[in-house]
Parts: sequence; C-alpha cells; structure tokens
Amino acid sequence: MGRRASSSLRPALFLDIEGTILVCREEASSSEREFVPGVLEFLKEAQAVFSVFVGGASDASTVRSASVAERLREQGVAIAGICPLGAQAASGCAPRRLDPEPLVRVAAEHGLDLPRSFVIGDHPADAELGRALGGKGVYVLTGHGLRHRSELGAGFIVVPSLPDARHALGLGPKHSRSAVAQRSDVLEAAALLREGGIVAFPTETVYGLGANALDTKAVARVFAVKGRPSFDPLIAHIADVSWVERLASFVPPLALQLMEAFWPGPLTLVLPKTPLVPDVATAGLPTVAIRMPAHEVARALLAEAGIPVCAPSANPFGYVSPTSAEHVRAELGDRVDCILDGGPCPVGVESTIVGFGPEGPHLLRPGGITPEHIEKVLGQPLVERTGEGSVVNKGQVVAPGMLKRHYSPKVPMVLFEGEVPPPPNPRTGLLLQKPREHVGGYAALEVLSEEGDLAEVASNLFAALRRLDALNLDVVFAEMAPEVGLGRAINDRLRRASARERGTPRGS
Ligand code: TXA
Ligand code: MG
Repeated sequence: MGRRASSSLRPALFLDIEGTILVCREEASSSEREFVPGVLEFLKEAQAVFSVFVGGASDASTVRSASVAERLREQGVAIAGICPLGAQAASGCAPRRLDPEPLVRVAAEHGLDLPRSFVIGDHPADAELGRALGGKGVYVLTGHGLRHRSELGAGFIVVPSLPDARHALGLGPKHSRSAVAQRSDVLEAAALLREGGIVAFPTETVYGLGANALDTKAVARVFAVKGRPSFDPLIAHIADVSWVERLASFVPPLALQLMEAFWPGPLTLVLPKTPLVPDVATAGLPTVAIRMPAHEVARALLAEAGIPVCAPSANPFGYVSPTSAEHVRAELGDRVDCILDGGPCPVGVESTIVGFGPEGPHLLRPGGITPEHIEKVLGQPLVERTGEGSVVNKGQVVAPGMLKRHYSPKVPMVLFEGEVPPPPNPRTGLLLQKPREHVGGYAALEVLSEEGDLAEVASNLFAALRRLDALNLDVVFAEMAPEVGLGRAINDRLRRASARERGTPRGS
C-alpha cells in the first residue's frame, strides 16, 4: 500500500487482547473467554474514527489474536490487522520488550497517523509503547492492570476498563456504556453538588452517595438519607492531588509513595485532618480519609465540581453496596437529587483503606488494591487491624470501618470452604466462587466466576448477593475465596455479610 497524504492518515488503536479485550484467564483458551463488559459496543463506536489493531505481548498471544480478531469480525467489528505489542512471558509478567518498530511498519503500510494513535493495555509496557510511538498510552485496570499499577510511570491515562477510555479518545457521546451519564448530566450533577445537593455517582469500586465535603448541611443530609450513624466517618473523594494538602495537615512519605503508585484507583488513605474538613464528615475524628477514584464519570464529576466530595457507598446503612445505578435507584431513588449512571462498577468491592500510626502503616479495610501489592510498594508489612470489630479508644470509634455486621443481605448466610455442604432444606441458596459438578438440591445457585478469577468474583459479588437476597430464601451457603490477594477483600465482605451478632452495629 502506498503512502497517503497526511490529511487522509487515520489514527489507530493498538489494543492488547489479554486482560484488555478479553477477561484475563491464563488457563482458558481464547475461544472460550468472554469479552470485558462493554468492549464490543466500544469497538463499534471507535471504529468510525480509528483503525483498530489487536495484538498480544508474546508471539503465542499474537497468534491467538487471529482467532479473537475473527470473533470480533463476526460481531461486526472491523479489525484492520494484527500487531505484536511489547514481548512478555505468557505468565509471570516478566519485563516486556519495548519495541515500537513493528507498529511503525504497520503504520506506514496502513497510512496511520501515529501522533493521534493510542496503545491500550493492562501492562505498563503497553502504555509506554504508545508513548514511544509518538502517540498516547492508555492503561486499563482490568486483567493485570491492578497488579502492575504501581509500575506505571507518571502522565499516562488510567481507566477502569477499555470502554471507559471513550472520553480520553475523544469519542462522543462522553460516556462509558449505554444509558450512561452524558457530559451534560455530569455538568448538572456537579452544579447540584456545589449548591449543597446530594448526587449518587459511579466509581470503579461501588456507587457513592456524594455531597460537598466542606458543606456541613449537605454532609448531614448524606448521613440522614443513608440512615448512617453519625460516628461513622466518610471518605473525601478528590480529582486533583492538590486537595490533599488542603485536607490533610501532614502527609507521611509512605502515604506519598502509595498515592503515586495507586492513584487514581481503589485506595483510601487516612491522614491527620486540617480545620477545613468539617467534624461532621470525619465523625469528630482528628483524621480524614481521602481517595482519588479512577472512574471516568467520577473524575469528570469531581473535576467539574471543583470541591472534595464525601461519599459513602450509596446503599442504606448496613446493606450490600451498590455496583450499578439500578441498585441505587431501587433503594434510594427518590431520596437523592441525581443518580449518574456509569454502568456496572468494574472492581466491585470498596477501596482498600490504609492508615498511618506510630506502629507503622496499617490496613483498616481490605479492598480493591491487594495488601500484598501495597506491601510491595511500601517495602514493609502492613499492621493488620481488620476483622476484630470496631476499635474504640477513649470512647471514640477510631476505626469504624471494622464494624462486624456490614454489607449484609437480609437472608442469613453461612460460609464454607472445601466440599459443598448438603442443603438443610429446599429453600437454601448457594453462592460459589467457580462452577462445581454434582451440586444438587439448592433452590438457587450463583457462580461468581467461570474460572475462579478473583477480580471477576469481586466484581460480581454484591450483585449476586442482592439477587439471592431477593428470592426469599431461608439461608444462603457461600463459598469463601482463597485468603490471598483480592480474596482477602472478598472474604472480608462475606464474613461481614454473614455476621449476625445481636447488638453489633451494622456498617456503612
Ligand atoms: O470504594 C469506596 O471506598 C467507596 C466508594 C464510594 O468510593 N466508598 C465507601 O465508603 O466504601 P463507605 O462510607 O461505605 O466506607 C468508608 C469507610 C467506613 O467504614 C469508614 O468508617 C471508614 O471508611 N473511614 C472513613 N474515615 C475514616 C477515618 N478518618 N478513620 C478511619 N476510618 C475511616
Ligand atoms: Mg459502604
């Protein structure tokens, strides 16, 4: 193909297949793996503007790309070609080769406009390749994205999943998925927040119920709408890191390290507060919890509002957190001023909360970023303070995130590991981490992940709990996850969902 005049050059998308287009499953063959939610709709929209190339990091995955390209074409997506991305071992994530040469050749052959092109993937090398090409790199948190987030350099676009890259790619309308908030909705919601209103909005973890964190009355309304006790403090959400020094009087160097590694993303840091933060937001504590979410709609809302927004999960106090706008509508619909729809939340469990005490950094709540990953970045272990009920010091709850009963469905839940117990009666539900053979006698079955992938389990957990809860069962038996990585957050939520102590306050 000859060279074209620069005016007719098309920008390209170079998309990593494993973990970016396909849900990441090392064991399954690519023909069995499903697409990341919303990817087909995204590609159909993107192909109008971009030439779409797909590829893999290793030679083997580039070969596999051909069959994925075929599957995409069957679905009506025009794939311009297959291209190798940075080389990497099939598993174990060895450092990837950064070689723009093959893509430069593809660009010359196809008449591509590299400065307006993007490389998108779940490894830092993908984003770096985009930059090395003279275009842009976009990093997704699906696949291995959360695992390698701390290795990503500064200045890259980070999105929860591929469809969330719409905004960064300049595609319109500016929303992630069908029925998802438009730019005008975001502007309206931001104005409502500034005027003291309360707005439910998507984050990559769960939906939040937001109010201007600096407006005492608005914050009080959030407590009232949620039915949340005033001793349980809220997280201040920010889009701009400059808010940290206005909200926190001191930022330990370790906290800075974590911010660099994981923001924007599902990590909350508890720091000493400044007088700017009203006591009602922190329940009178001398500390404030701060988080910079990664979700495109949350970021646009926060940036537009120009204020820190405190937001508990948008559920009635003590119930399962919402992972879709539908969940929020069902429970809080007419009690909030606005609900922004951002589609289902890709991470599905709340942010990890880390505090800094004289004894060192400690884990206050396991969540979307694994403790192992945080420890790797810190180069030291986290002191564990979860799972022991709320911590009270001099009559004040110092770590209210630890309330035992939390995230609770109405149906009683019993946790198990290993063999599936036989159902005690016909009105028993079963929640499994992955499919099992010979499971009989249960009235309802929810399988959280076809391959037992923990990220997928996390993203499906709360919606599955809600579906089971709606069935009026006598009891649900729930299988626990392995106690590693995201499994820690998943098991934490399962334990709290099954806790039944009388008199134990229910949590957020
Ligand atoms: O992923 C998330 O963090 C979601 C989304 C909406 O961002 N938010 C969320 O908020 O889970 P909430 O309010 O449901 O849970 C926040 C937890 C509470 O358990 C609260 O007690 C704890 O954070 N927390 C807030 N401020 C704190 C502080 N100063 N010290 C210790 N814990 C704090
Ligand atoms: Mg909550």
